[in-house]
Amino acid sequence: MQHYTKIVNREHPLDAFYIPKDLVVCDFPFCAEPWEEKRQLCAAPADAAGRLLEYGKSFGHQLSGVSGYRSYDRQTQIYQQRLKESPAEEVDRYVAKPGTSEHQTGLALDISSPGVGYGLEEVFGETAEGKWLAVYAPMFGFVVRYPKGKEKITGYAYEPWHIRYVGKSLSLYLALTGLTLDEYHQI
Ligand code: DAL
Ligand code: ZN
Repeated sequence: MQHYTKIVNREHPLDAFYIPKDLVVCDFPFCAEPWEEKRQLCAAPADAAGRLLEYGKSFGHQLSGVSGYRSYDRQTQIYQQRLKESPAEEVDRYVAKPGTSEHQTGLALDISSPGVGYGLEEVFGETAEGKWLAVYAPMFGFVVRYPKGKEKITGYAYEPWHIRYVGKSLSLYLALTGLTLDEYHQI
């Protein structure tokens, strides 16, 4: 269980060579082909996310995975590409530097819905799907990792689409207390 509660942020980076041992291909709706790296997650979050999305269907919500596991090299490519498009300050609000992304742990998943064109944008948080996700994700061991109003603590802008698997005891604790994973690790 310890592994699922691990903190990864700017102050707590991963080794460039870290690759999770139990990656599996997600078999729930996903905006990626089965052979794409980003369709993978560690086994426990892959199973939990499948059940979360299935439960969402009973509320009439069509949610889909957009991006799961990312290697150190892939995060480097994304970061470098974004630097070509926007100033570094802006990029750093949304994209983790290589080695500091939760996506490298295989425990983080970006989720979106057809209503916003499967986009990863703040407006997702205003949709019924985005609101539902924030409330119900903790029942399945996930938390919305970069909430609104906690930018100074998490180091990132509000990302209603990015959920992080921490295991069910901790996800429920964080939901009840309103603490972020960063704050939990500072206690
Ligand atoms: N968007 C999050 C912060 C990441 O790049 O891991
Ligand atoms: Zn993400």
